[in-house]
Amino acid sequence: MTLRISVIGTGYLGTTLAAGLAEFGHEVIGVDIVPEVVKKLNAGQPHMFENGLEHLLEQHTRSGRLRFTLDYDDIADWADVHFLALGTPELPDGSADLSQLHATIDALAPKLTKPALVVGRSTVPVGTAPALQERLRRLAPAGDGIELAWQPEFLREGFAVGDTLRPDRLVFGVQSDHALRLLKQVYAIPLSEETPVITCDLATAELIKQAANTFLATKISFINAMAQLCQVAGGDVTVLADALGLDARIGRGHLSPGLGFGGGCFPKDIRALAVRADELGVNVLSDLIKSVEVINSAQRVELAELAIDQLGGEIAGKKVAVLGAAFKEGTDDTRDSPSLTVADYLHDRGAIVEVYDPQAHLAPRDGFTQVGSVIEAVRDADIVLHLTAWPEFRYLDPAELAPLVRSKIIIDGRLKLHAPTWRDAGWKLVQIGRAATL
Ligand code: UDX
Repeated sequence: MTLRISVIGTGYLGTTLAAGLAEFGHEVIGVDIVPEVVKKLNAGQPHMFENGLEHLLEQHTRSGRLRFTLDYDDIADWADVHFLALGTPELPDGSADLSQLHATIDALAPKLTKPALVVGRSTVPVGTAPALQERLRRLAPAGDGIELAWQPEFLREGFAVGDTLRPDRLVFGVQSDHALRLLKQVYAIPLSEETPVITCDLATAELIKQAANTFLATKISFINAMAQLCQVAGGDVTVLADALGLDARIGRGHLSPGLGFGGGCFPKDIRALAVRADELGVNVLSDLIKSVEVINSAQRVELAELAIDQLGGEIAGKKVAVLGAAFKEGTDDTRDSPSLTVADYLHDRGAIVEVYDPQAHLAPRDGFTQVGSVIEAVRDADIVLHLTAWPEFRYLDPAELAPLVRSKIIIDGRLKLHAPTWRDAGWKLVQIGRAATL
């Protein structure tokens, strides 16, 4: 059954969700407050790089099932379901800034004269949803006819379209059978493909998302701490991770060692959970999260210091080629990018840093330069740093790059390069946690 659905907020999540819901056969209107974004999206063009999204947007803006607007009047009493896909950025104390959610409710609610289901998708501290429902009901002419549900989002940048069309699970935080029935209609297609569904209360739904992100971040920091141990003990952390991953209770996912996690989700979401846990007096959880963060930040410093060591302790005036600026491969997102922390650290110590990334465009900034190719970045370099695991870096030809550099030293911060190939071409390849390779 075709529903009318609005998606409020057209960032990574909202844009992909809106296009995905149109692909499921629904009529969808996306809402944003930025005129240029709405204009671009109506022309079928995404405002970020995300595999497969352009195709989906083009197809459904053309089919007429998907459009975007600036005007809440277009959606208020039109939609059966309103999705809230707003950002919850970090406040200076680490807690989540809910002002976009509040502003949206203040704009939407006074226009809701008929009963409707509002579904939150943002990552929020536990306890947020009931407060938002109270605000909605207070401001909406439809009053108690407005029901809030919470459906956490698990999509990964770079795989956002696939994760939306074929989710590995759906979590429905609901308060009534009616809300559950509507959500099942929204997701009739993935449900017909036997996607597992968890139905729960609002608090559990809010917590599932934060727990998932924190658990994955913990896996990454755990393997990075083991990498430190391998480094001094002489082991190989990649072999260790493979062996751990074969234990079905552990799994290989998010156990890749290297520079650690960055991006718009993990760092802020785990800090927000720590703040909330402290507020609620559950300090054991915030202590665990603080350790995860300490290990994660240390990886960046460790790598930068390793680069300085490789150059004999002095990096001022040396040219450093940085391969990768995005926080991970498959995206142009540079929010809290480990790669840029390393670049800044070395620049602050006098290095001449040139960065290349296949997709990310850096805003003009003091310090390092962004160049248009690997060749440009590595020309005359004293050291090369592989910091984002773009596939194209894995297939570089070390023999072709060798004559361009001043010294053939490369640090593989993502442990993805094929060490024998680089060594055979005369390079010194360094990977933290594979001491034998030093
Ligand atoms: C994450 C969650 O995976 C997703 O479910 C949630 O909705 C949003 O946050 P995303 O930030 O897009 O998604 O990226 P993800 O692929 O999880 O990687 C996060 C960071 O961890 C990246 O910096 C990545 O390089 C790093 N990472 C990931 C590792 O260092 N090792 C790993 O094994 C996996």
